[in-house]
Amino acid sequence: MCGIVGYIGKRVAIPILVDGLKKLEYRGYDSAGVAVIDQDKLLVSKSVGKLVALEEELGENYSQSCLGIGHTRWATHGRPSFVNAHPHIDCKQEFAVVHNGIIENYLEIKESLIEKGHQFVSETDTEVLAHLVEEFYDGNLEEAVRKVIGTIRGSYAMVVLSLKDPDKLVAARKDSPMVVGLGEGEFFVASDITAILSYTRKVYILDDGEMVVVTEDGVKITDFQGNPCSKEVYDVKWDAVAAEKGGYEHFMLKEIHEQPKALADTMMSRLKDDRVVLEEVALTPEQLAQINKVYIVACGTAWHAGLVGKTLIERWAHLPVEVDIASEFRYRSPLIDEHTLVVVISQSGETADTLAALREAKNRGAHVFAVTNVVGSTVSREAHDVIFTWAGPEIAVASTKAYITQLEGMVLLGLYLAQIKGTLPQDKITEIITALKKIPEQAKAVLAQESLIKELAQSFVNVEDAFFIGRSLDWAVAMEGALKLKEISYIHAEAYAAGELKHGTLALVTEQTPIIALATQRDVFDKTVSNVKEVKARDARVIGLTYQGNTSLAKSVDHVIYIPETIDELAPLLAVIPLQLLSYYASVARGCDVDKPRNLAKSVTVE
Ligand code: M6R
Repeated sequence: MCGIVGYIGKRVAIPILVDGLKKLEYRGYDSAGVAVIDQDKLLVSKSVGKLVALEEELGENYSQSCLGIGHTRWATHGRPSFVNAHPHIDCKQEFAVVHNGIIENYLEIKESLIEKGHQFVSETDTEVLAHLVEEFYDGNLEEAVRKVIGTIRGSYAMVVLSLKDPDKLVAARKDSPMVVGLGEGEFFVASDITAILSYTRKVYILDDGEMVVVTEDGVKITDFQGNPCSKEVYDVKWDAVAAEKGGYEHFMLKEIHEQPKALADTMMSRLKDDRVVLEEVALTPEQLAQINKVYIVACGTAWHAGLVGKTLIERWAHLPVEVDIASEFRYRSPLIDEHTLVVVISQSGETADTLAALREAKNRGAHVFAVTNVVGSTVSREAHDVIFTWAGPEIAVASTKAYITQLEGMVLLGLYLAQIKGTLPQDKITEIITALKKIPEQAKAVLAQESLIKELAQSFVNVEDAFFIGRSLDWAVAMEGALKLKEISYIHAEAYAAGELKHGTLALVTEQTPIIALATQRDVFDKTVSNVKEVKARDARVIGLTYQGNTSLAKSVDHVIYIPETIDELAPLLAVIPLQLLSYYASVARGCDVDKPRNLAKSVTVE
């Protein structure tokens, strides 16, 4: 949520800042800005809208300064506007600040600063930071920032630039990610590794409660009290190319096509001799024997992966599972203790609500297992155990390859727990693993139907509402299909357990309402077909989805999308792909901004 980048070195800063912001635009894109120190002036350029507007504003004759900060914004406090765009500056235009997060006590601070004569121009919480630095500055920027930290409450990753100290950047982190990139005689700060990947793969990952002073000579990391912190350099494995579009028109399409590889990478090395081997996991059989309940906690798409996980863990490991939305979890005093296993799922590993749920679970004594895509993310560092999904950087706001690998993470976890608990016979485990190994190739076969799905998507151009229905695991996948469609094409879409439609929602079904009916779960196939007939009787146009070789669904629907045969528990891994493509092409056909849908941001690092 919002993106930060800062540079100090020998190169001209602005192109590096803009390049970094381009990589971060997926985190927020309603306005952007940069600030540099140019001789004896603090120069700030901002613009509303996407980054291209800032590039136009900067033109070709931009400052040649080698020190600067930049920001791309996703509005929380104050609407998207020029004055609310970052960087924010103080009254004397000596300090510039970029910030991600929320300063909870900004109103009281603002009032007291106004009483002292400070003049504010924006509606943001961030602006108080610039005025506070101005207020506290006494010749030492680091100390001034430390005093600011002592005054504010909330979450922040912030970077401060000072005209009075034109040789340094000072940054601090609490509950919002921040890394420091180490180059040759040059340094970077960024909210996200992807911003600086083209320049360096060596980073320090700041922990909460740490601040950093970066000069051309090096990096000094301390805690908020000023005690030095020793950190290990983290070598990023992702390469810069993985975060480029690579010839695709949109990141989302590229990421959809990367799914077979992501699936193979995530399972590879974890399947040995027809067993799931999670060498990274510390949970012992003795600890697991004490577990009597599992909670899966996540947001959005990751929560949908959790819904599939519930069925798999209950079915295979015979443990009761509750799936909670992270933003609700901690406010309802969940009944968890040391006998509970809490599984958090998060692509970014930085989602504020998921992180808060993780901490709540730990406070209550639960063992926390994380499924995340970002090595070094806060979730990965705070959980007791981690299964990394090896999807590579996901840039499009709409999650695709991360979701599919989260599903795979659920399969691996479900089998792993079943193995330890002895709840599945080996021949069943062998059958599942054999089927799982085929999934990457089968995913390629689904992708080969892209042109058919593209054609179906054309009929969504003028659609206002759509329903996704299914039973059992199909219902969970239907939820993901509906979310994908609404977030990138702005078509109102809902998912229903197929049997539930007649309890009210059927009243909304007309011939204008496309229904996407998932029918992969063999034990409820006939019942799903009955529900399809109910909507057909109301003249709805139905697109069905089932296994190749199942000829009966075609008789009840208008179009059928086929996926290769697999075992029902693994069907979500294939069934979701056509739904992603359908949403993608519906979005393109409707002229929407696929990778950067309105009002959304990739990582939601505020509550
Ligand atoms: O990074 P996370 O997996 O924690 O993100 C959770 C949700 O914000 C995310 O899945 C969101 O729902 C996606 N944009 C949906 O495509």
